[in-house]
Amino acid sequence: MKVISTVAQLREVVADAKKAGAKIGLVPTMGALHAGHVSLIERARQECDFVVVSVFVNPTQFNNPDDLRTYPRTIDADCAKLEAAGVDVAFVPTVEEIYPEPDTRVFDLGPVAEVMEGAMRPGHFNGVAQIVSKLFDYVKPHRAYFGEKDYQQIAVIRRMVEIEGFNLEIVPCPIKRHDDGLAMSSRNVRLSAEQRAKAPQIHHILAQSVEDSMNNHDIKALRQSVVDAINAVDGMEVEYYQIVDAYTLQPVAEWDGKQPLVGCVTVWMGDVRLIDNIKYPKA
Ligand code: PAF
Repeated sequence: MKVISTVAQLREVVADAKKAGAKIGLVPTMGALHAGHVSLIERARQECDFVVVSVFVNPTQFNNPDDLRTYPRTIDADCAKLEAAGVDVAFVPTVEEIYPEPDTRVFDLGPVAEVMEGAMRPGHFNGVAQIVSKLFDYVKPHRAYFGEKDYQQIAVIRRMVEIEGFNLEIVPCPIKRHDDGLAMSSRNVRLSAEQRAKAPQIHHILAQSVEDSMNNHDIKALRQSVVDAINAVDGMEVEYYQIVDAYTLQPVAEWDGKQPLVGCVTVWMGDVRLIDNIKYPKA
């Protein structure tokens, strides 16, 4: 595995691979890698000949300086995991390499970026669009892989791809969970042992809601019962739970029990903000 820190070197190795006819897969990450990331890499390796993984904690997508400061950084362990996963190139740039000058681009990301995370974290998705568009420009991958834990992020990236005219396939990959149901996340390491033991309840409550939705199509009631159940767990506070159309991400008022929906939740446990989601109806 090559570890590369400059854009010029990255462009060069990818150009060589393309000349040799390789299909290029890109897995953008912010590091603190876990089995969820490894599952994206495995998928990329199955479908592509040459896999690039970027490890970059992108400052422009953090609207909260404390979150940026405390975001876990484990670059040596990350490189060992990437090597073991059979990655061809780890791209590990500095902030100065990516942003030699401030990125002032403002993307017209439309309604998918205005709800939920877009409403709670102003500027977050514009920052995601900035870094992902730069990575797409450097690598021009055939396919790029993203985890469905950040469900809304995928919709926003699709929109960015459309407006910027990138020619690639976005591959959404299922949420990877611990055996107890907790969605894998780089932020989980910040939970205390007591919080970690309770955290899987988020998924269990969402899964129960999908069960309930089989004979109750009242979205308002389904939403409220998730909020009440999570808030009833000592140490958990729901920031939002929205049940939205799976494609437009706009809230739905009426449901026929068939339209694909996704329920997206953010929960505070102390100063750790966890996100998760679940699809309705039951598969
Ligand atoms: O999902 C993430 O880890 C980040 O938002 C991404 C896509 C790597 C961009 O920094």
